[in-house]
Amino acid sequence: MSVELAPSILAADFANLAANAQAALEGGGSLLHVDVMDGHFVPNITLGPPVVASLRKATPAILDCHLMIENPDQFVAPFAEAGATWISVHQEACVHLDRTLRLIADHGCKPGVVINPATPVHTLDHVLDLVHHVLVMSVNPGFGAQKFIPGSLEKIAALAKIRVQRGLSYRIEVDGGVDLTTVASVVRAGAELLVAGNAVFGKGDIRANAAALLKAARSATQMHA
Ligand code: DX5
Ligand code: ZN
Repeated sequence: MSVELAPSILAADFANLAANAQAALEGGGSLLHVDVMDGHFVPNITLGPPVVASLRKATPAILDCHLMIENPDQFVAPFAEAGATWISVHQEACVHLDRTLRLIADHGCKPGVVINPATPVHTLDHVLDLVHHVLVMSVNPGFGAQKFIPGSLEKIAALAKIRVQRGLSYRIEVDGGVDLTTVASVVRAGAELLVAGNAVFGKGDIRANAAALLKAARSATQMHA
């Protein structure tokens, strides 16, 4: 599976969101990661369906909506109607995870499941055949520009191994602290969807930042191949 860059718009300038997002896509991003926070599941508040609807009008790109919210079932339909392409929910927030993932698929979106740094991979054993992607948090969710948690690498590697052993096809996404110093290690562990906020939008030229990160990721795959 080829590596793809998913710029996280949380670090973008919301006053120039469409232009920032377009620059990140032109730099090599192939989907946009959209962080939704409700101030309950995580100690921060970001955006809702209206921002997704505006983004959808501005770009045909895949919108990878990462729901860091309680009661995600309530919001699957509004995000799907707003134009979300992928919707991922936290294992830690879903009492009926199987039902929630099926609900996302029923609304025509690709379902993803997310695990926090402290949550073991085996909690997903009974839903890995249901999901399009698994998102491994490499920071505790709620904020951008945090330090990468190295323990995430063994979880990514475990998911890559299980995928082969069980003949499954879910994609492996990593989120949090992915930058030029950590991208090679996550790719070598088996991640192919690389979320990056601060490393793309933080400082300097957005296009150049995205291109440099994707280049570093791809050269890590070549070295690993
Ligand atoms: C954190 C979010 C991440 C964050 C990544 O809770 O889920 O997507 O925006 O930002 P960086 O790449 O700056 O760590
Ligand atoms: Zn995220």
